[in-house]
Amino acid sequence: MADLRISEAKEAPVTPETLMRLMASRRDVRGNRFSDRPIDDAILRQILEAANAAPSVGFSQPWQFVIVKDAAKREAVYREFVHENEKAKKIFRTHALYPSLKLEGIRESYANIAVLYQKSSNAVLGQTTRKKTGEYSVVCAIQNLWLMARAYNIGIGWVSILRNKKVKKILGIGEEYKLVAYLTIGYVNEFAEEPELLTLGWETKKSLDEVVRWV
Ligand SMILES: Cc1cc2nc3c(=O)[nH]c(=O)nc-3n(C[C@H](O)[C@H](O)[C@H](O)COP(=O)(O)O)c2cc1C
Repeated sequence: MADLRISEAKEAPVTPETLMRLMASRRDVRGNRFSDRPIDDAILRQILEAANAAPSVGFSQPWQFVIVKDAAKREAVYREFVHENEKAKKIFRTHALYPSLKLEGIRESYANIAVLYQKSSNAVLGQTTRKKTGEYSVVCAIQNLWLMARAYNIGIGWVSILRNKKVKKILGIGEEYKLVAYLTIGYVNEFAEEPELLTLGWETKKSLDEVVRWV
């Protein structure tokens, strides 16, 4: 077997406090908070490197990132959002708050990032029983990206009120890909201290006891 390159586990690379601070200060950023400041390509690449360092089933790295700067394409995605959000408004018609929620920053952000799952035609180690593990891997990459962006003081918004087929058509993406996430990225003037949906009273924060079971 090939020699594994290893480093001693004497010292952790960052302190738990630093990592927790980063995680706790990560926010989903909507359109009203993005600033006009452009992002250097070198920084954008570092953020994408973080995504590309994520764990993946069978080390398949089944992700692709499409950086969308084109205004016309973004406008088309925005129109798709508006269409789908009209349907969502009907679903939440008894919630007076819903229509006032700002749920995307497609046009206001510096760029959009379509995050794709690339289906494999070959068997993937570890994915033989649980087919969705490829898509789960892509979500791990998204979380890495989101956290690294925060480390650069850059905000990310996740826009999911979009149909897979429509977005793929707008961006000219082939059949072998599935849209996992449509993100917006940009510098922000401020980061909210807690989730907006918590502040607005849409949801409450679950305690650890509510989400952990010991069996
Ligand atoms: C899978 C996923 C989909 C989401 N889709 C949307 C969305 O369509 N619009 C939106 O405004 N926020 C969206 N969000 C952001 C969540 O609302 C947000 O993460 C949550 O309210 C907690 O806030 P925080 O991320 O600032 O901690 C999404 C988040 C995830 C993980």
